[in-house]
Amino acid sequence: MMLLIGSGQAAGQAILEGERFHPVTASQGMVATSHTLATEVALEVLKKGGNAVDAAVTAGFALAVTQPRSGNIGGGGFMLVSPGDGSAPEAIDYREKAPAAATETMFQDDAGNVVPNRSRFTHLAAGVPGTVAGLALALERHGTISLQQALAPAIKLAREGFIVPRRFTEGLEEARGRLERWPATLSTFYKPDGSAWQPGERFRQPELAATLQRISDQGVKGFYEGETARLIAAEMERHGGLITLEDLKNYEPEVRQPVHGTYRGYDIYSMSPPSSGGTHIVQILNILEGYPMAEFGHNSADGIHHMAEAMKLAYADRSKYLGDTDYVEVPLLGLTSKAYAESLRKGIDPQRATPASEIGPGDPTPWESPETTHFSVVDKWGNAVSNTYTINFSYGSGITVQGAGFLLNNEMDDFSAKPGVPNAYGLIGGEANKVEPGKRMLSSMSPTIVRKNGQNWLVTGSPGGSRIITTTLQVILNVIDHGMNIQTAVSVPRIHHQWLPDEIRIEQGISPDTVRILEERGHTVVGGSAMGAIQSILREEDGTLHGGADPRRSTSSAMGY
Ligand code: GLY
Repeated sequence: MMLLIGSGQAAGQAILEGERFHPVTASQGMVATSHTLATEVALEVLKKGGNAVDAAVTAGFALAVTQPRSGNIGGGGFMLVSPGDGSAPEAIDYREKAPAAATETMFQDDAGNVVPNRSRFTHLAAGVPGTVAGLALALERHGTISLQQALAPAIKLAREGFIVPRRFTEGLEEARGRLERWPATLSTFYKPDGSAWQPGERFRQPELAATLQRISDQGVKGFYEGETARLIAAEMERHGGLITLEDLKNYEPEVRQPVHGTYRGYDIYSMSPPSSGGTHIVQILNILEGYPMAEFGHNSADGIHHMAEAMKLAYADRSKYLGDTDYVEVPLLGLTSKAYAESLRKGIDPQRATPASEIGPGDPTPWESPETTHFSVVDKWGNAVSNTYTINFSYGSGITVQGAGFLLNNEMDDFSAKPGVPNAYGLIGGEANKVEPGKRMLSSMSPTIVRKNGQNWLVTGSPGGSRIITTTLQVILNVIDHGMNIQTAVSVPRIHHQWLPDEIRIEQGISPDTVRILEERGHTVVGGSAMGAIQSILREEDGTLHGGADPRRSTSSAMGY
């Protein structure tokens, strides 16, 4: 097994005959997204001399048209920009914010019980969208093309339409129950007779085209003020939502310092709060660094056992400590310190699963010292962008802004509706993540860039709710410890543990023998559907680029030139 997939050091990414999965290889630029049309328009930007940020922003707007289930202008996300000259990476936080009228108990009834689905499928579920402001800020700080240029392909795709793939039709059929209750959603995304657009048919979005055109004409004010803002506020007023004209006008993205850690000599940069992603990827890597993961072997019982134990500890800490650092103190240095990881390792039994009931949040504070629809793009200068953005669920709240043609997020469900009550992903949150006006809800999004010898090397990230952290983690391990090429690393089966529920979730392809050994050690192992859709690029030191699009999405694509 080890001999087949590498020595534990991903020294090169040469495509060897005999490997089962092969990345796309190029020398100048590479784009990996979850939709071919977005990949194509972004690659075109690179070919015309644009940089990675130009291409990423173009992809972000294009996905808002071609992939309404997650691509968006009605949601938010995070972008990591890592310059090719080796200077410090930067994170752009364009996470949604709670409206000013939001309250701690807004998702509870008078008796203090959480009202099912109020934070998911009502107008109260929507946070103030950040995508337009975030993408515009990225372009302003790092881009070379105008906002108009970045929007032009998206406007064309919305106005002239595109041929829908099977996944588009299937997604809208699956979600029909919760989408068709909203007349604007029905008329925007389904045919006039209510049936779904079929694979091979052309789907146009004239209202979305007009909304995007207003941004093109007026900049971010074309979204946060004027006609579009009025349409959002009117939608809220009609249905008891909270977002006002003032909330929209006040929305600001933030520039943040990414979380930084190291793993076996590689530098890991990932998203800082209000995402928990980077913090816990670094924390889990720190724990696993103390184990011979390569020797254990990929997806061996030993490997999965140690990953699961480390994941449990991290998610337990997440439940207590993580929140928006603009509102709460997060012991970030402690959580990401090697010394804290060492203390946590002491509690891991190599042969027995520790029940989740015996695990709680640890105490990282002693180490709190002062030292310390994802898409990926790399351009010909070695600049790298790793971007994850979302409207939370597939199709977000399911609510389309009438007259504006786009779906609103249901990101408010990522707040803790009540301490101890799980959100849609089963994640438990505490005081640190309670609802407060203007606060950003905690995320798991983990846009990540790994540097080798100071140069951008691995660019990766994934959707998948609570599974984002563990999905991204495993691609890092697959490349660094298991020596896989990037296409293999994104394709092979994954596992997930999030402390509660106390179970290892596995994808198809983990051996029954391995499952039996894990069960003998005390783990509960459950099968489930595929997890994540990780779009990754690996850049070798000589500049050769390898793209790995996740086969878990039939529309995923990596393209280079
Ligand atoms: N909405 C999922 C996340 O941000 O983690």
